[in-house]
Amino acid sequence: MLVRSDLKRQGLGMLLMRKLIRYCRERGTCRLWGSVMTDNAPMLHLSKALGFRVQGTDRNVEEIVLELQSEPSANA
Ligand SMILES: CC(C)(COP(=O)(O)OP(=O)(O)OC[C@H]1O[C@@H](n2cnc3c(N)ncnc32)[C@H](O)[C@@H]1OP(=O)(O)O)[C@@H](O)C(=O)NCCC(=O)NCCS
Repeated sequence: MLVRSDLKRQGLGMLLMRKLIRYCRERGTCRLWGSVMTDNAPMLHLSKALGFRVQGTDRNVEEIVLELQSEPSANA
């Protein structure tokens, strides 16, 4: 996901992620998984706010995981 620089911090990233999560959940997808660079504060902030579990790795990467078929979190 990439939001154009002059449109950042207006809620678009959150909106797009919520739409993606809703779409995948409705299709029966079990889990969303991704890799985020450790220094990518905006994406890590967004992921945590949406209820993703964030796990460090031995590289400069965090793994983010959201189970979709359990109870939806209030934020996602
Ligand atoms: C990550 C990205 C998609 C976020 O998009 P965005 O539209 O700016 O995000 P939003 O405006 O929806 O913000 C969502 C939350 O992140 C926070 N946030 C956004 N940018 C931030 C920053 N630079 N530092 C800290 N928090 C930030 C917002 O404050 C908001 O939290 P809040 O609701 O608690 O206030 C955007 O920064 C981007 O395109 N980054 C480059 C591409 C990228 O890194 N993609 C992900 C690869 S894994």
